[in-house]
Amino acid sequence: MAEKTETARARTHAVLSYHDYSPGARRYRALHLVVLGAGLVAVALSSVEGLSPIIDRTLPVIILIVSGVFLAEYIARLWTAPEDGRFANLSPPAARLRWALTGTGLIGLLAVVPAFTVTTGTIQADSDAAAVFCILWVLKLGLYAPAMGTLARVISNERATLASVLIIFVIVLIAAGTATHILERNVQKQLFGSIPAALWWAVVTLTTTGYGDVVPQTVGGKMVGSVVMVSGIIVLALMTGILATGFSEEERRREYLRVWDQVTKVPMFNELGTVTVSEIVGKLRVRHYPTRFVVVRRGEPGDSMFFISEGEVEVRLPHGSVKLAQGGFFGEMALLDRLPRSATIATTQPTTLLVLYASDFYEVASHIPSLVESVEREARRRRAENEANQGRSPGL
Ligand code: CMP
Repeated sequence: MAEKTETARARTHAVLSYHDYSPGARRYRALHLVVLGAGLVAVALSSVEGLSPIIDRTLPVIILIVSGVFLAEYIARLWTAPEDGRFANLSPPAARLRWALTGTGLIGLLAVVPAFTVTTGTIQADSDAAAVFCILWVLKLGLYAPAMGTLARVISNERATLASVLIIFVIVLIAAGTATHILERNVQKQLFGSIPAALWWAVVTLTTTGYGDVVPQTVGGKMVGSVVMVSGIIVLALMTGILATGFSEEERRREYLRVWDQVTKVPMFNELGTVTVSEIVGKLRVRHYPTRFVVVRRGEPGDSMFFISEGEVEVRLPHGSVKLAQGGFFGEMALLDRLPRSATIATTQPTTLLVLYASDFYEVASHIPSLVESVEREARRRRAENEANQGRSPGL
């Protein structure tokens, strides 16, 4: 019985952790987003005055329902806290307490507060409460969104490069602020009378925001302004480049780990040595499909082949159907024969596939001949089987 509870707890923890790709976890995430979206719209609208009475009466009900869902989620997260790797060496009550005191736990708890304010009638159109809940709920979304974790990793990985660009930013900022202060102070005493005042103009110009509330009037001031504007574009371009490259690198690393996880479930990859496997891992992509999803259609051109790491697919051929289970592969014939797809293939259950695109397939073929040989052998067998079955089909 205790074991049963523990599996249910581990399962719930996985579903809530955002790293699970099972249909249940995906449905939960979609539902969570819909509920959050509805809650945000309701909270934002509750700050608008003069809405029709019916909307005014409906909004608190929506906020109450959303808070109810968040309360249930908070309780579930509290219950599953002992499954969190960070608290592995703590007793279940201690793990729950530790989780409740983390930023995630505290925000999770605060996100439930709107329910109380609504039931006590304290949420009003002109109160700040609506705005605060809006922020809290959006924060809640950010806490669990994988992109936030990625951003944190990217900033940490690229901190040295980002810091050097920031130093350039600060140098230009202070130099421009000081120069315009000297050049403009006699003409615009109020706006450039001190270095901090001139810095406001420098920040607005360097970030390319350009409110236009402070404008240099002397020739010297305008020349400094031109340099600051061009520097601003360069600094922003550098920042964008660093972050974009960092993001794509991080995503590539994550994809590598996701693929590696799935590759171990395909026996034909396990037979290759670690070095060879690591070579092919970089070329595979993980795709999760729900039940009855058509992955390839007969007659369409084929640009990839698939390995089944989890689940099962049905190959629908003109003379009947065949099932392919975990470890199997399909879509190789179009790549080898350069012909359209010979069958339609659909999933019969939630399925995870590893996709190998044509360009990578031909590269793998030249590097790992043993793998492609077994793929070719099976393709020959399939072709012969299909031809034999076609010959036997009535009317042919
Ligand atoms: P392709 O022709 O690219 O797309 C359809 C796929 O169905 C095909 O590659 C094979 O991978 C698979 N297929 C075709 N015939 C059979 C068969 N007899 N048994 C199992 N799989 C098959």
